[in-house]
Amino acid sequence: MRPLSAFLSRITRGVRNRAFLAFLVCFLLTDLLAIVIGASRTVHQPIAFNHSKHVESGAACTDCHTGAQTQANATLPTLATCLGCHETQLSQNPEEAKVRAIAASGQELRWTQLTRVPAHVYFSHRRHVQIAQLDCAECHGPVAKSTAPPVAAFRPATMDNCLACHARRSVKTDCNDCHR
Ligand code: HEC
Ligand code: HEC
Ligand code: HEC
Ligand code: HEC
Ligand code: HEC
Repeated sequence: MRPLSAFLSRITRGVRNRAFLAFLVCFLLTDLLAIVIGASRTVHQPIAFNHSKHVESGAACTDCHTGAQTQANATLPTLATCLGCHETQLSQNPEEAKVRAIAASGQELRWTQLTRVPAHVYFSHRRHVQIAQLDCAECHGPVAKSTAPPVAAFRPATMDNCLACHARRSVKTDCNDCHR
C-alpha cells in the first residue's frame, strides 16, 4: 500500500521542498513506466491454441484442465493430453502439426500461466467449482470464446475480486481463510 494520504497532505501544505518534489516526479515516472512495460509485454505460448474451436467440437474444460473439479489447481494441459486427439492429423493448420513436431523432439509444452495468486494466498478450484458450483466464466470471463491465447487474464485474481464475490454470496472473509 502506498502512503497516499501522507502524500496528499504534504502536497496540500504546499511543496516547499525541492528534494521532495524530485522524489514525487520520479515516483510518478516509475509508475508510468511500469504501466507502459506491462501493456507491451508479450506472452509466448508454444502453440496458438484456439479455445473456441475445441469447445465447439465438444471438448469439456476438464478434458484439458483435469484438476478443475477435484483439486486446488485446475492445471494446464500436457502434451500427452493433446496427443490423445492429435496423434494423427485433424486439420490443415500448421499450428496443429506443431503438436506432433514437439512430441517428436521429446520436449514438453510449457504454457505461461496468466491468472495466478501469490504464494501467501490459498485458492482451491475444487472448493469453488465442485462445492460452490460456480461456472468457470464467473472468474475467467469469456475464455471459452477465445480464438487465440490471451495475453492477459480476462479477470485478474485480485483481492478486490475475491472479496466482491464473497460479499455478494455471504461467504466469510477472515484474513486467514485466504492468507495461510
Ligand atoms: C478432445 C480432442 C482434442 C484434444 C484433447 C485436443 N484437440 Fe486440438 N483439435 C481437436 C479437433 C477435433 C480439432 C479440429 C477442429 C476444427 O478444425 O474444427 C482440433 C484442432 C486443433 C488445432 C487447429 C486449430 C485451427 O484453428 O484450425 C490446433 C492448433 C490444436 N487443435 C491444438 C491442440 C493442442 C495444443 C492441444 C492440447 C493442449 C489440443 N489441440 C488438444 C481435438 C482436440
Ligand atoms: C483441448 C484443450 C483445452 C480445452 C478443452 C479447454 N482449454 Fe483452457 N487452456 C488450454 C490451453 C492449451 C491453455 C493455455 C493457452 C491459452 O491460454 O490459450 C488454456 C488456458 C486456459 C485458461 C487461462 C489460464 C491462465 O493462465 O490464466 C483458462 C482460464 C482456461 N483455459 C479455461 C478453460 C475453460 C473454462 C474451458 C471450457 C469452456 C477450457 N479452458 C477448455 C487448453 C484447453
Ligand atoms: C472462484 C473463481 C474461479 C472459478 C470458478 C474457476 N477458477 Fe480457474 N482460477 C482461479 C484463480 C484465482 C486462479 C489462479 C490460481 C493460482 O494461482 O493458484 C485460477 C487458475 C486457473 C488456471 C491456471 C492453471 C492452474 O492450475 O491454476 C486454469 C487453467 C483455470 N483456472 C481453469 C478453470 C476452469 C476450467 C474452471 C471451471 C471448471 C475454473 N478455472 C473455475 C479462479 C477461478
Ligand atoms: C464468483 C464468486 C467467488 C470468487 C470470485 C471467489 N470466491 Fe472464494 N468462495 C466463493 C463461495 C461461494 C465459497 C463458499 C464455498 C463453500 O460452500 O464452501 C467460497 C469459499 C472460499 C474459501 C473457503 C472459505 C472458508 O470457509 O474457509 C476460500 C479460502 C476462498 N473462497 C478463497 C478465495 C480466493 C483467494 C479468491 C480470489 C482469488 C476467491 N475465493 C474468489 C465464491 C467466490
Ligand atoms: C477471499 C480471499 C481473501 C481474503 C478474505 C483476504 N485477502 Fe488479502 N489478498 C487476497 C489475494 C488474492 C491477494 C493477492 C492479489 C492482490 O494483491 O490483489 C491478497 C493480497 C493481500 C495483501 C498484499 C497486497 C499487496 O499489495 O501485495 C495484503 C497486505 C492483504 N491481502 C491483506 C489482507 C487482510 C489484512 C485481510 C483481512 C482483513 C485479507 N487480506 C483478506 C485474497 C484475500
